[in-house]
Amino acid sequence: MTSSKHARCAPGPHGVALWHSLRRMRRSALTEYERLREQFGDVVRLPILPHPVYLVSHPDAVQYVLRENARNYRKGLLFKPIAALQGQGLLTSEGELWTRQRRLVQPAFHRRQLAMFAEVMVDEARAVVQEWRQPMQTRTPVNVAERMNRLTFNVVGRVLLGADPGALAAYSGTLRAIALPLLQFINARATRLWAPPLWVPTPRNWRFRRAVAVYDALVQQIIAARRQARQHTGEQATDVLALLLAACDDTSGAGMSERQLRDEVITFIGAGAETSAHALSWTWYLLAHHPEIVRRVHTELDTVLSGRTPTQQDLPHLPYSRMVLAEALRLYPPSVVLPRQANAPDEISGYAIPQDAVVVISQYVTHRHPEFWSEPEQFQPERFTPEQEARRHRCAYIPFGEGPRRCIGEAFALLEMHLVLAIIAQAYTFQVMPEHPVIPEVAVTLRPRDGLWMTVHARQ
Ligand code: HEM
Repeated sequence: MTSSKHARCAPGPHGVALWHSLRRMRRSALTEYERLREQFGDVVRLPILPHPVYLVSHPDAVQYVLRENARNYRKGLLFKPIAALQGQGLLTSEGELWTRQRRLVQPAFHRRQLAMFAEVMVDEARAVVQEWRQPMQTRTPVNVAERMNRLTFNVVGRVLLGADPGALAAYSGTLRAIALPLLQFINARATRLWAPPLWVPTPRNWRFRRAVAVYDALVQQIIAARRQARQHTGEQATDVLALLLAACDDTSGAGMSERQLRDEVITFIGAGAETSAHALSWTWYLLAHHPEIVRRVHTELDTVLSGRTPTQQDLPHLPYSRMVLAEALRLYPPSVVLPRQANAPDEISGYAIPQDAVVVISQYVTHRHPEFWSEPEQFQPERFTPEQEARRHRCAYIPFGEGPRRCIGEAFALLEMHLVLAIIAQAYTFQVMPEHPVIPEVAVTLRPRDGLWMTVHARQ
């Protein structure tokens, strides 16, 4: 739809109120988005230069932007800071390039492949159980968030990139060392109205460029090791990197450039590891505050598994654990905003949207929309019984996005999180430590700012 002559200008703050709102947003964007929705409604206009921003919260409007009229919305301006790192990878690319690349890697996420991934996921979860025996016995606190990051990074490295488990430990150390300058750069770009271009030698730009150089060297190492292995063994692997390498080494002329290969590998490391790690951390955090829900998880695990390690085939028989994960993804969605930019003038819920306007959908806000969620701040896995799910608007719950750009790794992530939850919950419970407060922070994804320090206890 284009904008009709009846379309109205969306309400929103102006002048001093706008200035205050932007200041609050820099401190806590999500709380401010929620406040603006409460004050002005489901479409809020922020008259910012160079393009006005529209905060869109109602599931009908979400469905319209991400699905029904998705062709009118590109990823646009707010994806630029991520593109400074990931280039033209699957998350940031558009048009024909995106279509070609998505088709290329899609087979790596086929159902058949997932069964193979499950074995590695189980292996990595069991390694955590093993590693936490000692801190449990000595009551030494562990940083659960850091360990979940390492777990999901290892899974992505092993199953998507075919990396050697031994090498991954060194890779993850390197990535941890450069994570901070990368995040600080992307955050500063995403939250400031103006930032000096990348070529200006500010300290932050300089730290960012140095971190990207380290990242590039690491990715080259992963790619080179894999190329060598392919040449020696003539492997027929079908993981993401194998598919990308085959396209890259295709000499027919239709192949992919080395730069594109690098962009895709960085995208999969970034999109595939951090998101699932945060989702798992928030799940452990919520469970630590809800012992009665933990008891129900234990009852289910004991009834179905009788103490043995779960496999992929067991998961349909563990519906309550799945509901716990779904509810954690509602309250703490790792991806908190889905920004877009309008290609042509449009109309959303009766409001005019000019060309090039920035449209921001926030999972965090829509997942708390009072018309669709009662007591939205409460952790209630029962919201995700099949009956409740069937009754709900499909776009009231969008942790993996919606429409053509919906997450390619959704089934992968759900499989991983379900197996990890089941395996670790069979062995341990956790207690938060009051001296280590847990503060949610948006740094591209929604993470516990200073980690998640907890004590580990043997299951009763
Ligand atoms: C809990 C875990 C995860 C969450 C919450 C999540 C969330 C999302 C969301 C919301 C999008 C859509 C972004 C947009 O429309 O602008 C997305 C896209 C994407 N995700 Fe995930 N993701 C998760 C796990 C994964 C995993 C495990 C992988 C890889 C194995 C992955 C790879 C990607 C890629 C490559 C895209 C871009 C897809 C495209 O545009 O074609 N994600 N993810």
